Amino acid sequence: MVSFPIDLKSDTVTKPSAAMRKAMSEAEVGDDVYGEDPTVARLEHTAAELLGKEAALYVTSGTQGNLVSLLTHCGHGDSVIIGRGAHILNFEGGGLCSLGGIFPIPVDDASGLPALADLDPAVPDVTNVHFTRARLLCLENTHNRAGGQASAPEKTRALADWAHGRGLAVHMDGARIFNAAAAFGTNASEMAQGMDSVQICLSKGLGAPMGSLICASRDFIERARFWRKKVGGGLRQAGIVAAAGLYALEHNVARLREDHENAALIGAILKNAGITVSSAARPTNMIYFKAKSAELADALRSACLRRGVVFNKSAPDSFRLVTHLDVSREQAETAAKVIAEEYGSL
Ligand SMILES: Cc1ncc(COP(=O)(O)O)c(C=O)c1O
Repeated sequence: MVSFPIDLKSDTVTKPSAAMRKAMSEAEVGDDVYGEDPTVARLEHTAAELLGKEAALYVTSGTQGNLVSLLTHCGHGDSVIIGRGAHILNFEGGGLCSLGGIFPIPVDDASGLPALADLDPAVPDVTNVHFTRARLLCLENTHNRAGGQASAPEKTRALADWAHGRGLAVHMDGARIFNAAAAFGTNASEMAQGMDSVQICLSKGLGAPMGSLICASRDFIERARFWRKKVGGGLRQAGIVAAAGLYALEHNVARLREDHENAALIGAILKNAGITVSSAARPTNMIYFKAKSAELADALRSACLRRGVVFNKSAPDSFRLVTHLDVSREQAETAAKVIAEEYGSL
């Protein structure tokens, strides 16, 4: 029996499993602002190892992890070269500008990454009083707005080499870096090579209720710890939630491939029904599809919602579906069939 609702709005909707809750209830805790929480320490150690970095810092959210990273890399009035579609630029309340005084220089990243050819002209000339000093290049992998596009580690390394050659550091918003790694059949450490800092989320497809980590050099993490405190991210007995993150890293990384397979299955069923589907060149756990017209988009979404299939619009005439830990293969197939039927009946 397929259970409803089938929530495909986002991979952030996952709920902690019974086993994850058990790990949380048994967590050893201490005051993490004093550096005394053994579970947070274990989580940070595990994340740093998985990402191939010296150290890691537990933060409350992806947004906080990105902000703290940017504040650590840049001073007030510095600039960052960043993709026009980046989550940091579009969906984090403009915190880099309003809280950090950091000026964004947007470049095209519709395919998931900026093109090398666009980067040289984006670097401001610091000898000219009209311009800001660029300190940082920001990348996102997987890239949410580019359809969950996974970018190859050779490509992100080449961009990092370019940045380092011009005296810029590189931050990766790796909210879904484990999805990117799964798409290339490799590990997160390879995906993080060449990056000076990487933000990873535990609360997306990995199924933890909250939390992210910044992974970087020991020196960077010590400086980031000061910024985390200033933005209110110093937590006390955080081991309770860190235990969920540890559980997620230990149990929910290897299964991300299933989410990708489920997204591909949904895409295939929709395509078969004559629906226009756009998936990324290297897809992961997201599928975008079009309504017959912008006028019919709300009717389609509501009809599906009435049948227990939940998803959001990504544009006036398009939708995004995201597969995750709490959507089984059977549910993915059922959801796609419901969407195809309702599309056909409009
Ligand atoms: C690519 C990307 N980066 C960062 C974030 C921010 O994460 P949070 O919602 O934990 O602040 C998200 C959230 O969906 C995201 O998709």
